[in-house]
Amino acid sequence: MQYKDNENYWINRHEELKGDIRSVGNRGKGIEENVRGYESKVQKLRTVINHKFDNLLSKTVLEVGCGIGMMARDLVQSGAVYTGIDISNVALEKAKELCPNGIFLQHSIVDFNLGTKYDIVFCTDVLVHLVNESNWRQTLRNMKNHLNKGGAIIIKEEIFKEMKSPAPHVVNRSYSQYQDVCDGLDLRLEVADSVAPGFYYLWPKEEG
Ligand SMILES: C[S@@+](CC[C@H](N)C(=O)[O-])C[C@H]1O[C@@H](n2cnc3c(N)ncnc32)[C@H](O)[C@@H]1O
Repeated sequence: MQYKDNENYWINRHEELKGDIRSVGNRGKGIEENVRGYESKVQKLRTVINHKFDNLLSKTVLEVGCGIGMMARDLVQSGAVYTGIDISNVALEKAKELCPNGIFLQHSIVDFNLGTKYDIVFCTDVLVHLVNESNWRQTLRNMKNHLNKGGAIIIKEEIFKEMKSPAPHVVNRSYSQYQDVCDGLDLRLEVADSVAPGFYYLWPKEEG
């Protein structure tokens, strides 16, 4: 398999940390702190979903860059039919252990076609790691291509006024870059800060 962009970085990181929460969280912090961070992130995602969708019962949900499945269990427990994709098989094995009722598949998020569409397509803290501009754009296109009518893309990202790259595997795009990619994909960018800081909805425009 030919790895794209930063995929080797993630494969190696998952190999090294083998299911440890720090493989997907902040490796500079301790386990407890990462656990607390995830409790808050899971809660925020639920709040953002509940704000726009009546309930998750039988809703199909696709997580792009699912890591070890930290976001999956709560969604499955709420009745969602959950699929997660990630480049790392080590991460996916841990995800299956943490959430046996989820579906976990190995794919590059830059290049995937699952042949089906989902009511909610989301990713948390993943797009920032697509350092190559065209891969970042293509991933958002892939997410839109997997979205059912009436559905929404939800992302959690640190988006600033100016683009910045604080580490070689990190590129924070600016708000205007997100606006631009959304315009090109006929998506409307809605900031969900008042619901949960750092979250955004991307709505297909043709549906109003
Ligand atoms: C910071 S972790 C976040 C994981 C998960 N979204 C969460 O919030 O727990 C980023 C994840 O994206 C995955 N990833 C990064 N680039 C990818 C790519 N090009 N294709 C598939 N997965 C990728 C990594 O393997 C890693 O599990």
